[in-house]
Amino acid sequence: MVRIFIGVAWPYANGPLHLGHVAGSLLPPDIFARYHRMQGNDVLMVSGSDEHGTPITVKAEEEGLTPRQVVDHWHKRHVDALDALSIDFDLFTRTSTKHHEKWVHTIFQGLQDEGYIEERVMNQPYDPEAERFLPDRYVEGTCPHCAFDEARGDQCDACGKTLDANELIDPRSTLNPDAEIEFRETTHAFFLLSKLQNRLEAWFNDEEHPWRGNVERFTQNWLEEGLQDRPVTRDIEWGLPWIDNDPTYEGKRIYVWFEAFSGYFTASVQWAKETQGDKNAWKPFWEESYDGEATRHYYFLAKDNIPFHTILWPGILMAYSDARESKGQPRLRLPYDVPANEYLNLSGEQFSKSRGVGIWVHEILERFETDAVRYYLAANLPETRDADWTWEDFLSKVNGELVAAYGNFAHRALTLTQTNFGHVPDPGPTTAADQRIQETIQTLHETVTDHLENARFKPPIRAIMELAREGNRYIDQEAPWQIEDKERLATVLFHCLSVVRALAILTAPFLPNSAQKLWQMLGEPGTVHDASWDQVQAGPTPRTNLPEPNPLFQKLDEDEVLNLANQDDPDSSQDEEPKEDATMITFDDFQAIDLRVGTVTNVEDHPDADKLYVLNVDIGEEERQLVAGLKEHVPQDELEGLRCIVVANLEPATIRGVESQGMLLAAEDGDLVAPLTTTQEIREGSEVH
Ligand code: MF3
Ligand code: ZN
Repeated sequence: MVRIFIGVAWPYANGPLHLGHVAGSLLPPDIFARYHRMQGNDVLMVSGSDEHGTPITVKAEEEGLTPRQVVDHWHKRHVDALDALSIDFDLFTRTSTKHHEKWVHTIFQGLQDEGYIEERVMNQPYDPEAERFLPDRYVEGTCPHCAFDEARGDQCDACGKTLDANELIDPRSTLNPDAEIEFRETTHAFFLLSKLQNRLEAWFNDEEHPWRGNVERFTQNWLEEGLQDRPVTRDIEWGLPWIDNDPTYEGKRIYVWFEAFSGYFTASVQWAKETQGDKNAWKPFWEESYDGEATRHYYFLAKDNIPFHTILWPGILMAYSDARESKGQPRLRLPYDVPANEYLNLSGEQFSKSRGVGIWVHEILERFETDAVRYYLAANLPETRDADWTWEDFLSKVNGELVAAYGNFAHRALTLTQTNFGHVPDPGPTTAADQRIQETIQTLHETVTDHLENARFKPPIRAIMELAREGNRYIDQEAPWQIEDKERLATVLFHCLSVVRALAILTAPFLPNSAQKLWQMLGEPGTVHDASWDQVQAGPTPRTNLPEPNPLFQKLDEDEVLNLANQDDPDSSQDEEPKEDATMITFDDFQAIDLRVGTVTNVEDHPDADKLYVLNVDIGEEERQLVAGLKEHVPQDELEGLRCIVVANLEPATIRGVESQGMLLAAEDGDLVAPLTTTQEIREGSEVH
């Protein structure tokens, strides 16, 4: 048994998760964790919302909200989106907890005690009109490298170079574009990273396990350039206060990056205390003294986060470990591997919250099955170079591979067995073809395992599809529908089911929901996620009863998908991402919405979606068909006959293959969802103002 700690980069709580996040840092660790759990290893996977710093304050100022409102809103959305994606953390917490603050203070106190912190005076941009220091993101100016005139104080988006605000030509404050910026002296706490140059270099060079090329290169470059001491406080009001009540640091906060990655550790302690009922349960994962079993630390992130995880975080861990050692406590483990990804783009453009280029997780999952989205992302991961999400390719991979190769093979094998035997048949003597298919299972099991052990996720999902194709070839060649000899028929179908069972186990880390569905259709007890990875080659047990099989996946509706491709702006979620001045609408805007009273005349389950109803609503002159996401919240009989309010002039949309001609209004507070109605009986079709 091995112990696997998995740290996943903490998403900022300032906007919705998009598919770039999923491909870059969320899906790969979930596959990895599920795989290791099936290998019988001890896994701890943690992350949370990154809730401090300028990414949050900028958003709050844009929206006229407090930072607290922003993070409360988005943290909850992150939790829901992860759940909808079947991404299964042992703990997904947040950085605004008291627990996190307390441990961050312990860590920084340790750094201070060991002489890794020094007070220094630096020159920082200051906006005399706003009477405040300006964090990097609040300064814009011309890039000294490429002359782009909207470069930010931390980075130029045009040429990608990292910058210091004082390098910008003609710096401006984003708060007051006309104000002259001054540079004023301010005192900050510095982390003396340069002291750790040799030890970090030695650790990096001693690491035998090969890292991905991009990770290796980034880290090497930083080390070669020489490590600089770094300010770990900022002139900002939203974040964790400095460790003691030293008046020098009044109005200053710990730099968000340095406390966010401490979250890997603080979340592990929280997990132990809150979910394991054993406040020491984190120790075997973290303390170096537990060397009875091998323990490995993996960090999953996108490429812009690399040096933070291969240099700064290991540096903090080393320094804090020194402090622990001084107190007789064991040192903490350093990263074993940092399998960082490149970016996922959307039809060639980079995902960007601010430019509205993106596909939000909650939106795409309203339309398509989780496993279809997970499949296309896994088969298209930006592991070694940037990858591209295109709707055409999504359509062709899901319909051509997932549905046509895998789903179809499983369905054929199960239906033929079901109609001929009703249970897993006893196999007779094997032919060369039977042996070949068994060998294919074995080879692909080994290939997939090897990739997963090395934290590679795109090649193994491709290998798994290859097995499904081999299964199809075998069944086509043997043509069980023509076999008259009952024993031979039993043998062929038994080997088909061996492939199906292998596919259920092999796909479980990638496609957890359909794998479980398949597991049940094979009549297997319990869940496929508790099955052992070694079982891939074991084959089904003869005489196991088989329930009635259902198709594993829904074929995507071509028009629906291609329609999405044709929308100029793939982000149609204006409700989630209001444009700058969209918080107020004019009376005319409001009048443009045609609201009508209606009566629900019929309620049915959507044929292809677990959370949706298909409603018929009488709105006076006509009857409308609406697709509504109410199934988990409102029982069917509460809706039948209900007088409701409908948006009658909403553009029709096809949702999972069913047309929706409007929208039913409902109030929402978390899980509580209440459809709107009228206090008096009033004729259908009445206007609502
Ligand atoms: N919130 C950061 C980002 O989205 C990532 C933080 S990773 C952590 O880029 F380790 F610092 F938490
Ligand atoms: Zn530039």
